Amino acid sequence: MCGIVGYTGKRRAGPILLDGLSRLEYRGYDSAGMAVRDGNKLAEVVKATGKLIHLADKTDQGRALEGTCGIGHTRWATHGDPSLVNAHPHVSGNCTGSASGPVESEVVGVHNGIIENYAELKEKLLRHGYTFYSDTDTEVLVKLVDYYYNKYKIGPVDAITRTMVRVRGSYALGLMFQDYPGEIFAARKDSPLIIGTEEDASYLASDVPAILKYTRDVYYIENLQVARISPGHVSFYDLNGDERSLPLTTITWDASAAEKEGYEHFMLKEIHEQPEAVQNTLNSLAAEDEIHLEEAGITQEFLAGLREVDIVACGSAWHVGMAARVLLEDLAGVPTRVELASEYRYRSIPTQDDTLVVIISQSGETADSLAALRAAKERGAATLAVVNVVGSSIAREADHVIYTKAGPEIAVATTKAYSAQLIVLYILAIALGAAKGRITSEQKAGYIRELRTIPDKIRRILEEKERLQWFSSKIVNAHDIFFIGRGLDYAMSLEGSLKMKEISYIHSEAYAAGELKHGTISLIENNTLVVGLLTQSALYEKTLSNMTECKARGAYLMGITPNGNFQVEDSVNFALYIPRTDEHFFPSLAVIPLQLLAYYTSVNRGLDVDKPRNLAKSVTVE
Ligand code: F6R
Repeated sequence: MCGIVGYTGKRRAGPILLDGLSRLEYRGYDSAGMAVRDGNKLAEVVKATGKLIHLADKTDQGRALEGTCGIGHTRWATHGDPSLVNAHPHVSGNCTGSASGPVESEVVGVHNGIIENYAELKEKLLRHGYTFYSDTDTEVLVKLVDYYYNKYKIGPVDAITRTMVRVRGSYALGLMFQDYPGEIFAARKDSPLIIGTEEDASYLASDVPAILKYTRDVYYIENLQVARISPGHVSFYDLNGDERSLPLTTITWDASAAEKEGYEHFMLKEIHEQPEAVQNTLNSLAAEDEIHLEEAGITQEFLAGLREVDIVACGSAWHVGMAARVLLEDLAGVPTRVELASEYRYRSIPTQDDTLVVIISQSGETADSLAALRAAKERGAATLAVVNVVGSSIAREADHVIYTKAGPEIAVATTKAYSAQLIVLYILAIALGAAKGRITSEQKAGYIRELRTIPDKIRRILEEKERLQWFSSKIVNAHDIFFIGRGLDYAMSLEGSLKMKEISYIHSEAYAAGELKHGTISLIENNTLVVGLLTQSALYEKTLSNMTECKARGAYLMGITPNGNFQVEDSVNFALYIPRTDEHFFPSLAVIPLQLLAYYTSVNRGLDVDKPRNLAKSVTVE
């Protein structure tokens, strides 16, 4: 987690750094800081705890800092509590770590990631006379660079590569050296980092939205590389210190995609962007009645030869996998396992070369998913990444990649990326079914045509959002909410429950409806809300029975079901109807009221919808 920015050019750095940090706040927001240099003068360091606004207030929106070169950081605590002293930037010099102002220090740095062997390195540095003011692994990292820099009298690039060889873990690093005014040095391993350039300025950032306002020309620095950045110029080095060249990529998305555009929250804006996210993703994979996966290097022969699919992901992306499993088994007849990435990587799952491991990730940087991808490759499986962020680590390392076309997602709780991921997985299931001869070309064409109706159906649900706004005001004081369903409806329940708990802080659980009576039903009390997903006709009666079992014990029932199932009103207290579609594709429609319910509940509780407590958008730590 954490967000990094850097700027060197002709303009005042402070406001540019703050602006970049404001677009990275989704990566962490328990404290923030900046270090800015004016020519040869000492770097001025300012930090503040809490949200970025405190740092902005402390620095007069960044204007109080003199200088045209600087680095900044927004933090999501890993080592050490979220205090001023632990906030970044960290420095190699002796100081208290909390006062604002010029700091006598050879090296100043910001870091995203975790240094696993920091305790051992700290011991070494203590033996060499270093003292420490914070509990962070970052201070150790900065002081280790300083140690090599001074001991061997080598330049910054060599001091950084020596440090990289010694540290274990993940990092994206931005450093300034007192002897190198106007320059920033950067390095990365398994944490995202990009460098943007324009004629007389260069930028460093964890993610594209931070610099999109200034430039569209970016370099994706590679794993285990170092960059030396000066105004308008960047050079790259490998671990041996040899210079490397990297391609310059032009970002094509619109800067307004990363702005709120009149919506109260990014989450609401992104919920409304789902019809386009679905349509763009679908258009990138299907033309007329045909599916095209050639760009991802996926051929008919490749699909026909697959015997098993393993889907590996975290959080909501894992829920997409839970839904996709039903389609892959049903349409393609391929045995499918769905694994949590944090578990998969530590298991020794027997894997053949006719297994396709699909890694689903919005950010493409989730540490567990990246590690799972590497484990799958080591185990000999073919790997496919379904990723939203172009050029991210997972996208670059997988054998095949299909991009979701959701555009930048800023709210911590995913919505449009989730919907776009569903489309990719539907298409994969249909293509696999066709390649294996399980579905005919007419059926394939029928499925594709039906998928083309999904964006409009989502729009129709969004038009009725006021009903959910009203209902959410009734549940604002709920203590527990249960989401239940069977089959695809269970996969939906998982997503509905996660959305609710992560942004409203109301405890909620998702249950396979038939499983409730094996223990959990004892938690049902008077007025406990039970949300039943009732989209699968073969399972409708069964789930409804499980819901009425809860009602008999005092539960208040909400049912989400296709238009026309009006008899549901005999059983539930509040019914929400969604347009009809092929039953395999209901997750794309049923998720919309679940997202809106969570959104309005969070708003009604007065919470920070886009940045819920304790979370970060991109989970780049294990
Ligand atoms: C929930 C949410 C998370 C992510 C998970 C994986 O709303 O957004 O559960 O789905 O952290 O992130 P990615 O998809 O970036 O790998």
